[in-house]
Amino acid sequence: MLKSLSLALLAVNPALSWDGFGHQTVGYIAQKYFTSEANATLGAIIGLNSNFDIGDAAAWADTVRDGANLPWSKNWHFINPKGDDPNNHVCTVNYTIDCPGSNCIIAAIMNQTNILLDTTRPLITRRNATMWLLHFFGDLHQPMHTSGFKLGGNAVRPVCWDSPAPCPGGTRNLHAIWDSAIPRKWRSMPEETTPAEDKVAAVAWAADIYAKQQVEGIDGYGACADLHGPGCVLGYAAESNRLVCTNALKDGEPWVLSHDLSKEYYEENAKVVEGRVAKAGVRLAAWMNGIARVLAANGREEDL
Ligand SMILES: *[C@@H]1O[C@H](CO)[C@@H](O)[C@H](O)[C@H]1NC(C)=O
Ligand SMILES: *[C@@H]1O[C@H](CO)[C@@H](O)[C@H](O)[C@H]1NC(C)=O
Ligand SMILES: *[C@@H]1O[C@H](CO)[C@@H](O)[C@H](O)[C@H]1NC(C)=O
Ligand SMILES: *[C@@H]1O[C@H](CO)[C@@H](O)[C@H](O)[C@H]1NC(C)=O
Repeated sequence: MLKSLSLALLAVNPALSWDGFGHQTVGYIAQKYFTSEANATLGAIIGLNSNFDIGDAAAWADTVRDGANLPWSKNWHFINPKGDDPNNHVCTVNYTIDCPGSNCIIAAIMNQTNILLDTTRPLITRRNATMWLLHFFGDLHQPMHTSGFKLGGNAVRPVCWDSPAPCPGGTRNLHAIWDSAIPRKWRSMPEETTPAEDKVAAVAWAADIYAKQQVEGIDGYGACADLHGPGCVLGYAAESNRLVCTNALKDGEPWVLSHDLSKEYYEENAKVVEGRVAKAGVRLAAWMNGIARVLAANGREEDL
């Protein structure tokens, strides 16, 4: 009874997100690309200190999305495009159709950007806005957060991991494979870790990604920072969404349900996951640098 109830709840619960350590990694990467202006301004607005750093700030949104805290922010972590049909190789995002009531991650990023830019707002409101932005750029780059197929893959279940397929009675779903199982295996992390271990892992992952980017001479991954319209954010969402067809559900749901995803599926997609985390960090930095530039031009942050 209890078990079927919790399964039912999981089935309608549209998404967690990159594991905490994935979000922290995005935050640490972004900080490496912040202008000194952005680093100082955002650090002051959030109130960063040795006990609450940029990684913690990037992971915060998942700690307030459930229960009695800020539950209305739950739908801000994803977009569920209605036209998605990856079994037939159709992946598509249409903002007009897929963000009803402006209640999706794209609208959330635009709204929180405007709130952060509005220096007449209370600091606590702008602090939360900053932390939502640090988080949503991570979610936006997780392909399953931009898929309307079976609640972003939460209802693609049970899938197998480290065990032969099929897995009757298994509790894993495809969304969590991308959030958690693939990044953890890639970084040689066990399934259960403490917050302290997560932070160490995130700092190390960000450093490794940054080192690779230095070698590759990254081009900003087409980062754009037009803060006025949803174009940039929509483009990133569409890019994530396409990866559902080309990677996450490349061979369709029946294939995913009938293979141990820790084998060739993992081998094919681990680098994709790392690439998404890398892009999220760099693009987030470009966005936040743009915001800090506008704030500095308006000269209104000196009181912080
Ligand atoms: C960015 O700000 C943090 C504090 O929020 C500080 O620890 C760090 O040294 C700063 N980085 C740079 C490059 O100034
Ligand atoms: C999105 O959907 C709207 C409403 O159906 C339509 O008018 C518009 O052309 C679509 N946009 C794209 C890019 O397909
Ligand atoms: C964004 O702002 C609009 C206009 O105030 C509002 O209708 C919408 O619900 C907001 N969406 C999010 C996700 O914050
Ligand atoms: C900001 O987040 C805190 C939780 O960290 C919450 O208590 C507060 O109500 C939020 N305020 C706004 C304006 O979002």
